[in-house]
Amino acid sequence: MTPADVALGSFDLSDPLFWTTSREYREGAFQTLRNEQPMSFWEEFEFIDPQFPRGPGYWAVVNHEDVWHVSRNPQLFASGRGVNIGDLPIEIAEFFGSMIAMDDPRHFRLRSIVSKGFTPKEVARVEEYVKIKAAGVVDRLLSAFPDRECDFVLEVAAPMPLQIICEMMGIPQEDEDQIFRWTNVILGAGDPEFTSTFEDLFAAGMGMFQYAQALGEDRLATPRDDLTSVMMHAEVDGDRISPQEFGSFFILLVVAGNETTRNAISHGMHLLTIHPDQRELWFNDFEGNNRTAVDEIVRYSTPVIYFRRTAMEDTVVGGQKIEAGQKLVMWYNSANRDEKVFTEPNKFDVLRSLQPAQVGFGSGGPHFCLGANLARREISVMFNEIRLRMPTLHTVGEPDYLQSNFIHGIKRMRCAW
Ligand code: HEM
Repeated sequence: MTPADVALGSFDLSDPLFWTTSREYREGAFQTLRNEQPMSFWEEFEFIDPQFPRGPGYWAVVNHEDVWHVSRNPQLFASGRGVNIGDLPIEIAEFFGSMIAMDDPRHFRLRSIVSKGFTPKEVARVEEYVKIKAAGVVDRLLSAFPDRECDFVLEVAAPMPLQIICEMMGIPQEDEDQIFRWTNVILGAGDPEFTSTFEDLFAAGMGMFQYAQALGEDRLATPRDDLTSVMMHAEVDGDRISPQEFGSFFILLVVAGNETTRNAISHGMHLLTIHPDQRELWFNDFEGNNRTAVDEIVRYSTPVIYFRRTAMEDTVVGGQKIEAGQKLVMWYNSANRDEKVFTEPNKFDVLRSLQPAQVGFGSGGPHFCLGANLARREISVMFNEIRLRMPTLHTVGEPDYLQSNFIHGIKRMRCAW
């Protein structure tokens, strides 16, 4: 991909229309910012519902080094005032975002408890299931589509991450569709195809919350062999997670772990299709190149485009004075293309060195993606299954992208084999 030449002053990061333009145009705009104005201030656009007043604006953090700095100094740059650009009442932010919208000590307490579900032992336990699911997805492709073509997102990328989270948490299969629909409403906020009103969003969140709360209560009373039971019974300093806290954490988990991984797999398939040389490089030494290839898919596609922080005191970022209370938006897509740290950043290179680290899972600090290792395993297992059993699988035409400044999503994408 070659970023377009986009002049400073000719684009507006806050305009929803900006996020409907091509990736070449958008990355061109961020390239211009990195080169000409690495810290810039932007007005906010109205949130999806006018009942939420327009906020005071935000600083766009676009350099890898500055994203790193903001991410790793949580005492200076808080998450507890909200992590999306628009301001939501804090209760709502926590309701939807759980610990991702908290600071220490509350963040530390919750993260310590739920981390018990993400130890290497737990992830290894899930791995077997990941393999079974990936095999099942490919079985279905091979048997149910005699014309040898289908929608990749619907048939391949979407089912697996959701099924894995549901399986991990002990959710019965018959409830998966409902969870899938709620997730789409919550994450599609802003894209007219999925949801248009705050009421829809809230109803989906409430549905998911009540479902999870009941699940947590059930496992508290009757533990089973699932992560919900591990988390509900985990104790840190004699303290446990309450069913309500679990309800909100569950929303975060399903939302954070489902669509992100789905999009990474979809982007990965498309990238491997349009870069056959890179596909060959990886697939000819799958295990040897696995670690770099998976991280390159996440770097190049950057499924989560940004997270926001709020300055807790007057400070300086990238040479720019920031006042206490001002918002900073870490544009991960831009940091991941920063030519000051990545050689040929616009090249998709499955052998790219892991240092400096890409920031698709965050740039370090206390909120670094809890599911990064699980996501890496899922991506890797899925592509291994494709490599071994459907080596000719490829995408057809251009993907249909989600309109969002937050999630770099693919809604539909034809594939054939
Ligand atoms: C390719 C897939 C994924 C991407 C790109 C991704 C990206 C991210 C990012 C950017 C953050 C915020 C980091 C920060 O603020 O420093 C995050 C946090 C988080 N992610 Fe992921 N994620 C992915 C998969 C998953 C999976 C599979 C799970 C769990 C099943 C998960 C669970 C979480 C949780 C719980 C947090 C909040 C952590 C905290 O606040 O302490 N993610 N993720």
